[in-house]
Amino acid sequence: MILLAGGTGHLGVALTELLSARGNRVRVLSRDPSRARVQRPGVELVAGDVRVASSLESALVGVDTVISAVTGFGPRGSGPRQVDLQGNQRLIAAAAAAGVEHFVLVSIHGASPDHPMELYRAKFMAEESLRRSSLEWTIVRPTPFMELWAGIVGDSLIRSGVATVFGRGENPINFVSVRDVARFIELALTDRRLRGRILEIGGPENVTLRTVVEVVAASAGRQPKARHIPARALRLGAALLRPFRPDLAGLIQASVRMDSANMRFDVARLTAEHPQIHLSRLEEVAVRRQQDASAAV
Ligand SMILES: NC(=O)c1ccc[n+]([C@@H]2O[C@H](COP(=O)([O-])OP(=O)(O)OC[C@H]3O[C@@H](n4cnc5c(N)ncnc54)[C@H](OP(=O)(O)O)[C@@H]3O)[C@@H](O)[C@H]2O)c1
Repeated sequence: MILLAGGTGHLGVALTELLSARGNRVRVLSRDPSRARVQRPGVELVAGDVRVASSLESALVGVDTVISAVTGFGPRGSGPRQVDLQGNQRLIAAAAAAGVEHFVLVSIHGASPDHPMELYRAKFMAEESLRRSSLEWTIVRPTPFMELWAGIVGDSLIRSGVATVFGRGENPINFVSVRDVARFIELALTDRRLRGRILEIGGPENVTLRTVVEVVAASAGRQPKARHIPARALRLGAALLRPFRPDLAGLIQASVRMDSANMRFDVARLTAEHPQIHLSRLEEVAVRRQQDASAAV
């Protein structure tokens, strides 16, 4: 049995679908199981919160593999310290106590102890806790998710006819599809050579947010119109919001970094090592997004 914490998120839904389609038994841990979007044979839902140690014990009964795809980063999230660091540490300790064999931690590309963003520091410290534990482990570090950013751009474009872009949108960024990240995680479950390894995962291209607008607009049959929020306004907004809405301030800080920091990824090593895993291009993800939207109507 696989316990998947974070199975209701962007990556978690794709991962639950893939793992259950391949015949695995998956138990999805969620603070509110009624919100879970995947209902498939072999998928169980269990209530639990990584901030509450007592809620994890029963979720781990009969589990041999834990995958943690939780995050407290984002709108109304409880914050990286509470979830990505302390929540993961709690889950790692509970998994070790329950005799779990293998723990897969979803971290982030660029995780480091001295990163300017709390999220990346929290992920790094959670990685260290896992590496020091008695568990067998695999750490995956993906770049930003294509589906999430195509959604942010696409939703504003469809709603108002104008996409919102944070900053100039000219910085090359590596995005990866959640479907592809899910395939690497599935591989980590079966290929023992990936135990004790940190897998850096990225997509096949580095693209600007301006390109994301163009590609998403083309797939939706819209004009690629964009409204840019200047970086100075974003910095001011983050500073003003930090005392009241640290969740939104963190998001704005992330968007400023995406507009200016080095966000490229060289995919050569990943594709040389794992040529069997197809890495989706932005066009493919935009078309899939459009097909899903049409099917939902
Ligand atoms: N998004 C990106 O671009 C990106 C890039 C690199 C790495 N990552 C990492 O990839 C993983 C998945 O990201 P995502 O974007 O798919 O996440 P997401 O959509 O924001 O979903 C967050 C997940 O975390 C769970 N969660 C939050 N707080 C929790 C708590 N206290 N206890 C239990 N579960 C909790 C949520 O479950 P419930 O709400 O159902 O409780 C939800 O399933 C995360 O570890 C993230 O840091 C994301």
